Amino acid sequence: MNLSRRSLLKSAAALAVFPTLARSAPLTLTAREGAQLIAPPGFPETAIWGFGGQVPGSPIHLQQGERVQRRLVNELPQATSVHWHGIRIDNAMDGVPGLTQDAVPSGATFDYDFIVPDAGTYWYHAHNKSVEQVARGLYGPLIVHESEAPDVEQDLVLMLDDWRLDPETAQITRDFDNGHDLSHAGRLGNLITVNGAFDPSFPVQQNQRLRLRLINAANARVFTVGLDGMAGWIVALDGMPLAEPIPIEDTFPLAPAQRADLLVDVLAANAETASLFSQERDGAFGLARFSVAGQAASTPRSGVRPLPPNPLSELTDLNNVPRHEMRLQGGAMRWLGSARIGETELSGRELAQLGRFWALNGYAERPDDPFLDAPLGSVHRIAFVNETAFPHAMHLHGHHFRLILPDGSLGPWRDTVLVERGETREIALVTDNPGNWLLHCHMLGHAASGMMSWYRVT
Ligand code: C2O
Ligand code: CU
Repeated sequence: MNLSRRSLLKSAAALAVFPTLARSAPLTLTAREGAQLIAPPGFPETAIWGFGGQVPGSPIHLQQGERVQRRLVNELPQATSVHWHGIRIDNAMDGVPGLTQDAVPSGATFDYDFIVPDAGTYWYHAHNKSVEQVARGLYGPLIVHESEAPDVEQDLVLMLDDWRLDPETAQITRDFDNGHDLSHAGRLGNLITVNGAFDPSFPVQQNQRLRLRLINAANARVFTVGLDGMAGWIVALDGMPLAEPIPIEDTFPLAPAQRADLLVDVLAANAETASLFSQERDGAFGLARFSVAGQAASTPRSGVRPLPPNPLSELTDLNNVPRHEMRLQGGAMRWLGSARIGETELSGRELAQLGRFWALNGYAERPDDPFLDAPLGSVHRIAFVNETAFPHAMHLHGHHFRLILPDGSLGPWRDTVLVERGETREIALVTDNPGNWLLHCHMLGHAASGMMSWYRVT
């Protein structure tokens, strides 16, 4: 019998019959070891760490406004925690060891319990030793459905990852603290997967409209996504609907942790194959195939409507708003001269010995004092000034923010912004969610080696 907690709660009769089950069987999210065929056929299974022992962990599907309860059960040999990426969450449930909770030791549990205020495409992932734990597979999709979903034939979650496997054994290489990776572009892999599989294929029909929910779960790779045999629009970024869907004419970047919701129409004809690809330096790389079998009865739709907006605080007037600079420093080629850990100023060489290669505003570790101490309900601009020779994917916990476009107007809502080398990107946010919130680069090797800060809302 498969009784979900929700169906139990929905039915008073069921509650009367199974009173103890309803109270004593929390849904669990077990972090444990597993094995899965990730590499192309002919290779052995890869040993992974996953939620439920699989990668990705099972998708969590919710309705907007719903309450989520999950008991994390840690069966790993290492302490862990779960961060619900992009959810404007109750601070105590944010899953950050040392800031919002203790890491959950091996053999222990932690009960997560929160509300999802916004519809959209989100994800959950380990947030302890993330550079290792996410690389090993500890992540899964979290999908919050709109009460009125767009009219599509298929709603597909495509979770992209980039693995570094030993080319002989197909096992994950353990070089998570490789100084060259940390100080350069991060842990780039040699195998790209979608939903934990190499080059998967999805059956479709010509003229079908698909919703593709792309999630970049890679440690460091920025995908440059394009469509072949399909045409469509970006309708949401990082979970948040765009007021004006963007037609996909060329490719678009999807940095680590970012999401993009696409509505696409299948143009390829019967027996052809459409594809989603990433434009990599050495050519287009297929991410997933869509094998066309038959033709949908409907003729192709024309145009697309924006998704219903989420209940975000209005952000319109940026006059007289305080502007805070966050300088991104260090890394290969622009090595840190010195930076601080706590109150101690260390030389670049001393920092390198500690595995620290980057700094945010002069700190090579999350500082004791927050980067920004904001009263609840205030508006702030943050300028990410990238002084390094590498791109960074800057992520705020707890809030979405709006990009400030080069002409000064307000761009889309996001939770992670890609800041190219030498570039300055400005964002604006309304601090409407109290708590201690992390702010870091989502290239997880960069976060581990210095790009970690925080802000406080009280
Ligand atoms: Cu997706 Cu601090 O995390
Ligand atoms: Cu970075």
